[in-house]
Amino acid sequence: MAEIPDWLAKGAPHLWRPYTQMKTAPPPLPVARTEGARLILEDGRQLVDGLANWWTACHGHNHPHIRAAVEAQLAKAPHVMLGGLAHEPAYRLAARLAALSPGELDHVFFAESGSVAVEIAMKMALQFWINRGVRGRTRFLSFLGGYHGDTLAAMTVCDPEEGMHGLFAGVLPAQHVLPLPIDAASDAALDAFLAAHAAEVAAILVEPRVQGAGGMLFHDDEVLRRLRRLADAHDVLLIFDEIFTGFGRTGDLFACQGAGVVPDIMTLSKALTGGTLPLSAAVASRRVFEAFWSDDPTAALMHGPTYMGNPLACAAANASLDLFEDGAWRGAVARVEAGLAEGLAPCRQGAGVVDVRVKGAIGVVEMEAPVAVGELCRRFAELGAWIRPMGKVIYLTPPFVIDDEELATLTRAVRTVVLG
Ligand SMILES: Cc1ncc(COP(=O)(O)O)c(C=O)c1O
Repeated sequence: MAEIPDWLAKGAPHLWRPYTQMKTAPPPLPVARTEGARLILEDGRQLVDGLANWWTACHGHNHPHIRAAVEAQLAKAPHVMLGGLAHEPAYRLAARLAALSPGELDHVFFAESGSVAVEIAMKMALQFWINRGVRGRTRFLSFLGGYHGDTLAAMTVCDPEEGMHGLFAGVLPAQHVLPLPIDAASDAALDAFLAAHAAEVAAILVEPRVQGAGGMLFHDDEVLRRLRRLADAHDVLLIFDEIFTGFGRTGDLFACQGAGVVPDIMTLSKALTGGTLPLSAAVASRRVFEAFWSDDPTAALMHGPTYMGNPLACAAANASLDLFEDGAWRGAVARVEAGLAEGLAPCRQGAGVVDVRVKGAIGVVEMEAPVAVGELCRRFAELGAWIRPMGKVIYLTPPFVIDDEELATLTRAVRTVVLG
């Protein structure tokens, strides 16, 4: 790589990097600009972004419509606290999200990150029972292969091993983390488990259709229908964590819509602002909200992140929703899906490849053993692609607007590395 820029050399001893053993990891790639499906590095090289900036930039980077909306809001009011005050971008966004969400998911609580939205959804579920005078509903049921974030409560509902927080086993409160009901036998096992334990379970928590950071694992919509049936039968709440799957990634605006299942609470983040600013939401059903609607002040949800519903972030999200409005994204996701399926299929012949799978704009090559992430990132970059594997999984989640040539650059890079 060309010379390391001064700002990187000076800041590197001080900036603590995410998910990185900094002693041994190669230096990060310095990005100067982003545009469309590309990252433009300080040395002028352009990499096709195979990850859409951690699954956020669905419309591509630096989209002019979103940028203009943020610039206009910046000139008016960069931040307005939501305690006792109101501003148009947040209220407009809440109404739009309620209209887009299925069923009676009508009540939107904003936060700034996915993990915090998950914490809020969990807190809503716990308090839902407390407010209704039900005691003892203190635990959650989540699934092996799941990932819900890095804050402490979110960590407890991740897969104990694959969810990145295995080191903390025995340190954090234990939840029930069980196999997904993928067939009649596992459905019956979950049913029996709930028959015995529902009285202590506040909610079931699942990433619908795709368990992302836990290994890009796909499941059928029938799994979600089973979960809805089980939640109803045992009177526990059902939370769908759509932080990864929301906003078109699996081919439907929300995975729950495609599956025809309405959860009691849905969490959103990532592509909510089209990959520009931090924002998340926990969207609750009317039934959940009504448990908080009371003359008793202590029944209120005692939560309020300082920057919740930040006007710049909400303006970005409203602009991102505008871009979804004409429905063109559906064709774009279908085109990306076809390109991923065709471009990654030859990887099945690769040594050490155990599976190649595609759902919506998600393409996955699963290896039998964890890969050397730093080394592979470097090789992908040499091939013009920004791809950062996770564990055993080499995956692509590009922006939906990626063109055919750029998509071919990504799949070619994966083939070159996997097929040797
Ligand atoms: C399904 C899911 N939930 C929660 C999170 C946490 O979001 P954040 O990193 O914004 O805290 C993620 C992040 O990858 C996620 O994929």
